Amino acid sequence: MTKILVTGGVGFIGSHTVVELMQAGYEPIIIDNLSNSSINVLDGIEKITGKRPFFAQVDCRDKTAIDQVLKQQGPIKAIIHFAASKAVGESVEKPLLYYRNNLVSLLNLLELMQENSIQHLVFSSSCTVYGQPEVLPVTESAPIQPALSPYGNTKQICEEIITDTAYADKNIHAILLRYFNPIGAHPSAEIGELPIGVPQNLIPYVTQTAAGIREQLKVFGNDYNTPDGYCIRDYINVTDLAKAHVVAVQRLTEEKQKQSVEVFNIGTGRGLSVLEIINAFEKVTGQKLNYAVVGRREGDIEQVWADPTFANTELGWKAEKGIEETLLSAWKWQEKLKSKV
Ligand code: UD1
Repeated sequence: MTKILVTGGVGFIGSHTVVELMQAGYEPIIIDNLSNSSINVLDGIEKITGKRPFFAQVDCRDKTAIDQVLKQQGPIKAIIHFAASKAVGESVEKPLLYYRNNLVSLLNLLELMQENSIQHLVFSSSCTVYGQPEVLPVTESAPIQPALSPYGNTKQICEEIITDTAYADKNIHAILLRYFNPIGAHPSAEIGELPIGVPQNLIPYVTQTAAGIREQLKVFGNDYNTPDGYCIRDYINVTDLAKAHVVAVQRLTEEKQKQSVEVFNIGTGRGLSVLEIINAFEKVTGQKLNYAVVGRREGDIEQVWADPTFANTELGWKAEKGIEETLLSAWKWQEKLKSKV
């Protein structure tokens, strides 16, 4: 079976990707430092797939430890690199943590790819690289804007590091996936998002408020220059997103890519406002959400949604799940978490 190293493989997007990889016949080799994830996620993966994937608690800043896994578990055909710090606000407070973690991890992996003759890399990038695009929907050729946070900057720098490395070393091929806003949970409700502490992102805050864990959702601003005044995002189902990684691995390993580094927007192509999300959540779950509009959040983009045409045509990938199904999956997961406590 083809082995794929998955860094951050028990995290939110990583765990869903591990499931999709296994269901597509790959053997994921997971490394994760468990800094923002739980080992129990492996139980959920096993329930869904019937198999427990290999796991090692390894921090990607530790090159020797990754190398040991590569040597013991190899040959590895490709790497999917999720492991990174991702909280925008925290990155402003602790920039060095973010630069060290996100950049050193990538440097280690790229050096190890060269040292172990691993040619293929799929990298988790973000629509944050576009900032507030002038043209919507945003395509991959839109200009990269100055980052608004150290987190966003690490994504830009990582894209550049990968591009420079692949330019210099013709053996290295990479696909950069620019995610829009990943939400939802596996339809089985065996795995989902596990925010530690107070959630910073919209959907976990919504589900925790509906579940009574948080008193009230604060909606950050309704005075934006959008049809209803609320911010607009492109919310992508995490299972759909996970599948994009499988097709990216297939494209790389079957040597179908047309350039050594390719970039794809992974979004639905549909922008929804925060109010539309709240209304859809209330409708589909029957829960009344306690929310109040407060001031804008610093650093928020007014509106962004993807033009996913390139991923649709070149990658053969398309978002399949609608927002209601996706919000319902997030709610089912929240209810399951509650019943475990
Ligand atoms: C941002 C980044 C994304 C990054 C993510 C990580 C952009 C466009 N996106 O997502 O790349 O991966 O952070 O955290 O830069 N909201 C509320 N109340 C809340 C929480 C959120 O009203 O309690 C609103 C926000 O103002 C925003 C929307 O919900 O309009 C989505 O916010 P969030 O889920 O935090 O994601 P982004 O900020 O879009």
